[in-house]
Amino acid sequence: MKKLKIRVPATSANLGPGYDCMGLALGLYSDFTFEKSERLIIEGCPEEFRNEDNLVVKAFKKAYEYYNKKAGAQGSAQVSLPALKILIESQVPVARGLGSSATCTVAGVLAAQGFLGNPFTSSELLMLCTELEGHPDNAAPCLFGGLTASFMEDGMPHVASFDCHEDWRYVTVIPDYEVKTSEARKVVKQDIRLSDGVYSVSHALCMVKALETGDISLLGYSCRDVLHEPYRKGLIKDYDSVREVSLDSGADAFFISGSGSTMIAMTRDEEVAEKIQAALRTAFPAFDVLILEACKEGAAVI
Ligand code: HSE
Repeated sequence: MKKLKIRVPATSANLGPGYDCMGLALGLYSDFTFEKSERLIIEGCPEEFRNEDNLVVKAFKKAYEYYNKKAGAQGSAQVSLPALKILIESQVPVARGLGSSATCTVAGVLAAQGFLGNPFTSSELLMLCTELEGHPDNAAPCLFGGLTASFMEDGMPHVASFDCHEDWRYVTVIPDYEVKTSEARKVVKQDIRLSDGVYSVSHALCMVKALETGDISLLGYSCRDVLHEPYRKGLIKDYDSVREVSLDSGADAFFISGSGSTMIAMTRDEEVAEKIQAALRTAFPAFDVLILEACKEGAAVI
């Protein structure tokens, strides 16, 4: 295989109470085209990322190294790492809490999977992405699509996939400013009270059910979080006003996407979604406000 084009979805991690474990793939995509080349060429991203430190390149390399390690242990032949020309056509904004780094790791690992002839299991693909990401909550829905819950145990990621009611609309509010995940992780408390643990488990479980069944009332209550949103909202200066405009316009649920700065307002009603979008566009003309649906399939070779 000489050329490979991979379409990878944006993802929203946490979904309120599912800090570092829940995630959802959304219908907003980045395309990555890989071609074997004489030397590394990267197009479609700022100059500073056109080098070996690019996350796509790192993920590709990591997958080849893993392949060779396994081949070595089995006494099989090693393969050499090909140089690549990579074209990135991205709709997923960087540092906005929509899983842009997962799009890169998933694309790199899936490119290696394609060029090597599909040697990796789904679990290995997720493990490779998670080692680069640090947590599986974006990588899992990015790879497999839909709504996922995931965790690390014995050094391996484990994932469960859930259906998502198809009426849900995710009004996705993307501010014109970044929040760096590294900064957003610093403001979250490292130790929590037992009551906050119970609050989170109960709300996350009910949130999954509400997303599955389309239960509006359950969604409204279960999207509330005590682990990260109370601390992170201070990093998003418009959080309170975006929330107020969304809820006043009829949203059933509201939460920060990943570590922000993007926020998501949910409704099952297309007209309400358009009303929320219009109100937010009027109040925040510099923001992107998109009405997205869930992406069921996850990353794919196209
Ligand atoms: N679960 C991670 C966090 C997602 O909230 O920090 C980062 O995109």
